[in-house]
Amino acid sequence: MSDALQPAATRRTLLAGAGMAGAAGLLAACGTDEPAATPTGGAPGGGSSPGAAPPSGTVLGKTADIPLGSGKIFAEHSTVVTQPSANVFVGFSSICTHQSCPVSQIADGKIKCTCHFSEFNIADGAPVRPDQPAGRPLDERRIVVEGDEVRVA
Ligand code: FES
Repeated sequence: MSDALQPAATRRTLLAGAGMAGAAGLLAACGTDEPAATPTGGAPGGGSSPGAAPPSGTVLGKTADIPLGSGKIFAEHSTVVTQPSANVFVGFSSICTHQSCPVSQIADGKIKCTCHFSEFNIADGAPVRPDQPAGRPLDERRIVVEGDEVRVA
């Protein structure tokens, strides 16, 4: 096995967040899953439709920008792309499933929402702690890798 990034041109990779939390029954620790005002002051769903999937074909970035065992938040496209294992790229909506804040960090193998401190697994988007407010996984975002680019599928 190799840890080095390999050109994906010869082996297109299409993955999407599995969305399979396997954690049914988790309780919200701070309020409901109803959307709240975003940290930027706008109401979710208002104006530019935060969290809406970008059009198919939208270039998100380069595979080299997605660290192995971590990921990158493409806030302008409301999308998170992770690389949980070598050359496996996974896409998620960047909008937290608790109250619709945009996630803001990826660290320690987790996608983090700092509004109320929910954390999601980088491989499947599932909530990682039973005591966190978000009780369901991040929504999947279908992506495709073509050459060294990651695009919306
Ligand atoms: S909006 Fe509450 S944890 Fe993300």
